[in-house]
Amino acid sequence: MVTESSARERLEENGQEHVFRFWDRLTGPERAHLLAQVESIDFKLMNRLVAQWVTSEPPEERFDRIEPVPVIPKGGGGDAQEAWQAGEEALTQGRVGLLLVAGGQGTRLGFDGPKGAYPVGPITRKSIFAYHAEKIRNLERRYHCTLPWYIMVSDTNHEQTQTFFEKNHYFGLEPGNVVFFEQRMVPCVGQDGKFLLDQPGSLAMNPNGHGGVIPAVVDNGIARDARSRGVDTLSYFQVDNWAVKVADPLFIGYHVMRTARMSSKTHRKDKPREAVGVHCLCDGVYRVIEYTVLDLYPQLLETDSAGNLLHYAGSPAIHILDVGFIESLNANYDAFPWWRAHKKIPCLNERGERVEPREPNGYKFETFIFDALRFVTHDPVVLEIPRLGEYTPIKAYEGDNSVIAARESMRTLWGGWLESAGFPVRRDAEDKVAVDIEISPNFALCEHEFIERARGHVYDALSDIAIGPDGRIENR
Ligand code: UTP
Repeated sequence: MVTESSARERLEENGQEHVFRFWDRLTGPERAHLLAQVESIDFKLMNRLVAQWVTSEPPEERFDRIEPVPVIPKGGGGDAQEAWQAGEEALTQGRVGLLLVAGGQGTRLGFDGPKGAYPVGPITRKSIFAYHAEKIRNLERRYHCTLPWYIMVSDTNHEQTQTFFEKNHYFGLEPGNVVFFEQRMVPCVGQDGKFLLDQPGSLAMNPNGHGGVIPAVVDNGIARDARSRGVDTLSYFQVDNWAVKVADPLFIGYHVMRTARMSSKTHRKDKPREAVGVHCLCDGVYRVIEYTVLDLYPQLLETDSAGNLLHYAGSPAIHILDVGFIESLNANYDAFPWWRAHKKIPCLNERGERVEPREPNGYKFETFIFDALRFVTHDPVVLEIPRLGEYTPIKAYEGDNSVIAARESMRTLWGGWLESAGFPVRRDAEDKVAVDIEISPNFALCEHEFIERARGHVYDALSDIAIGPDGRIENR
């Protein structure tokens, strides 16, 4: 561990000596904690970020030409069957691993625990992690393969996440195939570029964004672990999308067939200002433009004469990345772009009193996974998906992208499956499914599988119904 004097020296050299302002009153463990935080800081990077984003006008990128990306239609193009087979082959050969990012702070949801532990199941209170795990169990059974599950966490939720898995016996998965690893943290800075203190002996820090998965995969030996298992293809998803297809043969197949290094899914934006990034080609380079900067690029809001968005390709943050591509990005990670978010950051004032700001008082710096796309040198591989059954992220309790919306999507999706299988479902006057429905992904991952496996069972959704992993009704 770094000594007090060398930590002081580093802080002074970088104009951050105030970090030790309360040193004299810290206990031994508090001092050790603060020293460890200081040791973890990449000062060169922080100085660059402060100079670029705080003490000077932030950079604004301008493009001469912004064009839509070519998109493979929903369900695939003319070569869909071939792609499906290629994907199934990659799964059967054990070439595929799962890369979940779950290190975020989940501020908007405000749940006391890791977001993945949220009990989203309306009847069983099953967690989002449990849904992901049940999908994995189904796929492993179907393809006689192991899908190693690499889960990125952060200092803010590592312990809680791991304990949650342990308490739930890894949801029936083999613990050796579930690997947690930590992303790095970066200091939050005030509007003057100075690091903020969260406690007298602790800096305010935030996880370095989902783009932090790039160095984290390499630094924590995940790339090495994947290779040792024969895995070269990682299916990337985010913890809060309960509906995601964790390893979609069609998507994997297109990635493999087109020898892509990184591929993406897209969904049609439902309104010009929907809070998702947009896939596009900017001066010929493949990018996702964040919704927060849409006003810089008004052409992204344009519609045709029929009112259809020209740039409809929203980003649901579902990708496939090759292990080798992650390694090459990491080798050149200095070129990876950073972003800042202006936030209300609780912190100590000069007198050591805690302040809960009402207005944004500082910046958090993050990197985003979709920025990896600008380093892709092949033609974009972008597959369109429907939202229902693939993309229902949970950002808050109610409103758009919420727990309430996720539960409604469960009713719509699974109500449809039950009816297709010939079972009654209660609907209201507006023809909406009027009961809560859960179908374990371990029992069925898609409508076709449900119809097959439901034979011999009797279900009715005239009142709430939860169908468990083995097809038995769980709620009654
Ligand atoms: P969001 O950007 O929605 O952030 O992350 P969040 O932490 O879930 O929620 P808010 O913004 O604080 O309300 C999208 C996905 O990226 C992961 C999250 O865990 C989520 O799966 N993520 C985000 C990380 O893994 N690390 C980060 O540093 C940020």
